[in-house]
Amino acid sequence: MNDISTASPVLEFKHFAALSDEQAEAHIIEARARLAQRAVLLCHHYQRESIYRHADLTGDSLKLARLAAQTDAEFIVFCGVRFMAEVADILSRPQQIVILPDLAAGCSMADMADLEKVEQCWIELTDMLGTPDARITPVTYINSAADLKAFCGEHGGVVCTSTNAPAIIDWALKQREKVLFFPDQHLGRWTGYKKGIPLDQMAVWDPDLENGGLTKKEIEHARILLWKGYCSVHQMFQVEHIRNWRTQHPDGFVISHPECNLDVCLESNYVGSTEFIINTVTAAPPGTRWLVGTELNLVSRLAEQLKAQNKIIKFMAPTVCMCSTMQRIDPQHLAWALENLANGNAVNPIRVPTHDAELARAALTRMLETS
Ligand code: 13P
Ligand code: SF4
Repeated sequence: MNDISTASPVLEFKHFAALSDEQAEAHIIEARARLAQRAVLLCHHYQRESIYRHADLTGDSLKLARLAAQTDAEFIVFCGVRFMAEVADILSRPQQIVILPDLAAGCSMADMADLEKVEQCWIELTDMLGTPDARITPVTYINSAADLKAFCGEHGGVVCTSTNAPAIIDWALKQREKVLFFPDQHLGRWTGYKKGIPLDQMAVWDPDLENGGLTKKEIEHARILLWKGYCSVHQMFQVEHIRNWRTQHPDGFVISHPECNLDVCLESNYVGSTEFIINTVTAAPPGTRWLVGTELNLVSRLAEQLKAQNKIIKFMAPTVCMCSTMQRIDPQHLAWALENLANGNAVNPIRVPTHDAELARAALTRMLETS
């Protein structure tokens, strides 16, 4: 397993950077043939087409987490962003190696909460409420660093994804009277709203202000404290885009990701994860028309795939909004990572420190058992 005794010298990325996409693709195909079953390529739906076509398995965050936990492959090559690769490392076996082809593939929303700020928030809540461990369940969206998942594991909390957030919020509110939800305020608000929690009982916690910018009374009144984070891609979608489109296409359907703001979600016919969006539009009757509020690579691919069924699928925003960090995984980085792997060198391995991994696994396991 993972024998590197016969490894050749590590190939530097600079030799791959100048390759055209076609040349890089030839390297990808050749390296994959050499690796055969030793490597599995997991791919998120936001990946560009020149990567997606090489995937062994695709999915949303929840499905990819489950797939990573199930695979027997020695190497999990993750075409997605860092938090997803970290989850794969935490849920896979210790001897398996997870590779992220470009370490710069992060998530700007995940970066909006860090351990220092969340611990400061917990201290301030302790001052305001007494023992937060007795009164608040911390819930982190899977789009977060491993040490925040570990924080949740340590404090009786849990992880959620865009698919299972309603079930997780139910679970969390059964454990304790309140939830601290980070980092995406929009997913938290939409989920709370769907659960029937009044908007005035969902207060926004601003980590850059003392006590989150809230009074003790506001905190006592809140059932869900929403961290002031958001996705820069999904914040581009606005309710006016939907209303303008509906005036021209009153029979059309609107489908959005729950990282969109509440008004967009309320105005949509369907709201759900990337996998849900793909499945719903794919299963719809031929000839239907759709406005889709999620990342452009996914929407363009879906439009192309379903053209043959006469489905007309349009991207919600008038401006281009791709996820720039998902875009970091390009054929050149994938070729570099795979060729090194085939030569016996695991470049860009993702290794979550053991202590964090154990605590984060507890929070992820609670999620997988609850959803
Ligand atoms: P999904 O889990 O729905 O794929 O969402 C991940 C994500 O980052 C959406 O922006
Ligand atoms: Fe993060 Fe938004 Fe990109 Fe999803 S689309 S990975 S939430 S920045």
